[in-house]
Amino acid sequence: MALRTGFPKGFLWGGATAASQVEGGWNEGGKGLDTADCRPAASHLTTEQRREPAFKEMTSEKIAAAIQCPDAGEYPFRRGSDGYHRWEEDLDLYAEMGLKVYRMSVSWARIFPNGDDVEPNQEGIDYYRRVLEGCRARGMKVFLTMLHYSIPINLVEKYGGWKNRELIDLYLRYARVLFENYGDLVDYWLPFNEMNAGRFLPFNGTALIRDREEHFDQSVYQGLHHQFLASALAVKLGHRLIPGSQIGCMIARFCHYVGSCRPEDQLQMLRDEQYTNWFYTDVMVRGIYPEYMERYFDLKNIEVKMQPGDQQILQKGTADFISFSYYFTQISTVDTAWEKTDGNLVTGSKNPYLTASEWGWQYDPMGLRITLNQLWDRYRKPLFVAENGLGATDVLEPDGTVHDAYRIAYLRHHVEAMREAIIDGVNLLGYTWWGVIDLVSNATMQMSKRYGFIYVDADDGGNGTFDRFKKDSFYWYQKCIATNGEDLGE
Ligand code: BG6
Repeated sequence: MALRTGFPKGFLWGGATAASQVEGGWNEGGKGLDTADCRPAASHLTTEQRREPAFKEMTSEKIAAAIQCPDAGEYPFRRGSDGYHRWEEDLDLYAEMGLKVYRMSVSWARIFPNGDDVEPNQEGIDYYRRVLEGCRARGMKVFLTMLHYSIPINLVEKYGGWKNRELIDLYLRYARVLFENYGDLVDYWLPFNEMNAGRFLPFNGTALIRDREEHFDQSVYQGLHHQFLASALAVKLGHRLIPGSQIGCMIARFCHYVGSCRPEDQLQMLRDEQYTNWFYTDVMVRGIYPEYMERYFDLKNIEVKMQPGDQQILQKGTADFISFSYYFTQISTVDTAWEKTDGNLVTGSKNPYLTASEWGWQYDPMGLRITLNQLWDRYRKPLFVAENGLGATDVLEPDGTVHDAYRIAYLRHHVEAMREAIIDGVNLLGYTWWGVIDLVSNATMQMSKRYGFIYVDADDGGNGTFDRFKKDSFYWYQKCIATNGEDLGE
């Protein structure tokens, strides 16, 4: 067996966005109001305030105010980056960068404005068909996220979110429309973004409102169970409607390092890995509920209600590939006094050997190599880095340039880490940088937390032209792609 030397031919270099964060156009084209449209701006809050459950969770009061609000006002996702109107210009820029694949999502509320409509909204179907054809015309493959968090608000108000089993059928009605209309235009399908988000950001993931639940954790895991079933049934349906289709799964991967050689810390790390990562991929890839969760459910007084046949559904709908988001690593320890720092979806214990972004996310390319090895060892399924990126404050210079050397350094080191993992033997299909263009941050709802290779001239309050500008990183990634990851120089 010959040692691999680097990125294989055909490696899928790409970029990612999500409908709710990039599109805007919240009330156009027949779209219904969705959960993201109801999340109010929070850029005035401090880091400490943002860690509070009161900020992270949705309340009935906030929802009522949002439903009443007739304009984009204080709701940043209603504006996004104006991608709904500028999609052609954006696809041209992605193609100029040389992207081989574009990971995008469809807004459920554009296809079924209320989620439970009998007929889909043709204007929404046509809109995405144009975008997908635009990708094809520019030579880009498509990695389509069928559900990236936001769902029609009616599904929250009328059904109570994902804890209601009826959402499975409503989701499948939506999934069928996507498979039937876009089967010829999509290369990789993803039924759900970050399945474990339902646990860490319950309004986004499982569409739950804290003050409406008696036993919140019970509702979270019931909702997750319904999402697992919906995902498995979507895999089955997609395979039937589009023979040979590739349908994957995704989690937000939380990579842990043990805080000390104390056995208690080691056990804590095992538990952290099981509860935050392995549970989700074990269900979606192995098709089983792992035994270690029985003990967890018992501890938390949770009883996931299953119907006869559920186990078989999970077994028959396992994912063809595993994708994940990777942003940071954290420490596992039983020491409650350990210094904390923020990370994607969670606040974790800080690693003194690492530096962090302005938002506290610990920068750790080697953790990506470790993660890729761990996932490959456990499942031996093709892997896809669906998200990785650096949120930073960028400065648009008067001449329209943006000098983001920090982003280039971050990207270079993560590309090197992927190359090492490939040489380690990992089967990696591709890499889609998050957010290829500046968009509204999911956790903090800020435009000023910028990820893109393309700058969008808009601030947190939605002021600005929304015009696009290429950052230095745009040209760096362009060269990286053109040389298939060989030229990682300046
Ligand atoms: C991922 C989400 O968890 O992290 C994205 O899938 C999100 O939607 C990304 O944008 C980065 O997080 P944030 O909060 O900085 O936008």
